[in-house]
Amino acid sequence: MSGKQRILVLGSGARESALALALARSPSVAEVLVAPGNAGTSRGARSGDALAPILRQPIPSLSAEAAVETATLVGADLVVVGPEAPLVAGVADALAAAGIPVFGPSAAAAALEGSKAFLKRFAARHGIPTAAFDVVTDVAAADAAIARRPRGAVVTADGLCAGKGVVVASSAEQARAAARAMLDGSAFGDAGRTVIIEDLLPGVEASVHAISDGRDLFVLPAARDHKRVGEGDTGPNTGGMGAFAPAPLPPALLERVEREILRPTIDGMRADGTPFAGVLFAGLMIAADGTPMLLEHNVRFGDPECEVLMALLDGDVAAMLASVARGRLDRSAVSVAPARAAVAVVLASAGYPESPRSGDAITGLEVAGERTGVVVHHAGTAERGADVVTAGGRVLTVTAVGADFAEARGRAYQAAADIAFAGMHFRRDIGATGG
Ligand code: GLY
Repeated sequence: MSGKQRILVLGSGARESALALALARSPSVAEVLVAPGNAGTSRGARSGDALAPILRQPIPSLSAEAAVETATLVGADLVVVGPEAPLVAGVADALAAAGIPVFGPSAAAAALEGSKAFLKRFAARHGIPTAAFDVVTDVAAADAAIARRPRGAVVTADGLCAGKGVVVASSAEQARAAARAMLDGSAFGDAGRTVIIEDLLPGVEASVHAISDGRDLFVLPAARDHKRVGEGDTGPNTGGMGAFAPAPLPPALLERVEREILRPTIDGMRADGTPFAGVLFAGLMIAADGTPMLLEHNVRFGDPECEVLMALLDGDVAAMLASVARGRLDRSAVSVAPARAAVAVVLASAGYPESPRSGDAITGLEVAGERTGVVVHHAGTAERGADVVTAGGRVLTVTAVGADFAEARGRAYQAAADIAFAGMHFRRDIGATGG
């Protein structure tokens, strides 16, 4: 590659803000554009300490046509797709067909996240350990599958449901109600008309990200998020209220995850003629005997997991992602910082997750962002005149690094205390078990 790259990041969350910052710090990058971005990316948030500027690029939608048009217009050397929906809809295929290098899997490979029935059948076919399951499309079959699981059932909608499509039922009655609401379309529309009923697995949840070019793998440090809205894992599920990395997963377990889950996935997709190139984010249940079982695959970085993972990587993240887009992973471009811990605390809006309120003015962003080791990634924010206001459920992700978790947590919570908006809430126990 000659000259420095111009990179277009597609998406508007804190994940895309973290990707943009990591790319902007990469020596091979001249400029990063984020489309549609948010109030943070439009202000070039923290671009002062990056090597390349971060700019916001208007885009009419995250459709394949808009992505190709925008990437062509700005002369992007590489497009990095943040969220799953455009990947499942074929944005990476359209960019590749237009000759534009893209980091993100094809629609056929993104089916690993886009269809839970596809994932379960794929796992069963390739010997990847996962819970026993039934795929059903009517109430009678759902009831029978639930009756076969007296020790508990997990009910999952087949399609994309913005992270809300899984019900871990505490009774057969709850499982039947969840299946009915999915099958009749009232819960998730067409995404729920096929349902997966599977065994409830006991164990401890973990998640691992790996970058792959379809053949080779670079397994990132384990990260852990906090899904419930309240401290001590109470209250309703959210997209994630915070994360920390590296999560304390024993090296032998990480090796098993690579050998028994990640590699068979990459090898199986290649053998099936739909190679997976991008980032694979495996959700796992670790059984009491240490066996990792696959719960789900996501085909993009987790949010807020991405914020803490990017904070641990040194080197040229852009060169690594570009190498995947060219078909040959160069993992030598980056290294994982030794002796660094990262903690990300999500500041959420009034009413989140049930009915988030928008339009509340946010103060303290500059003070918080000036703190040592801290980056404030915007997510649900918008500009109103000179103000930045809330515009979504997860508003900001305050991310901090330190020599250990105590230092990273201390910095993140000090910065969170600088920021205020009406109804702001956040968990005070993020990373408390980090080790
Ligand atoms: N934090 C979970 C996810 O991004 O799916």
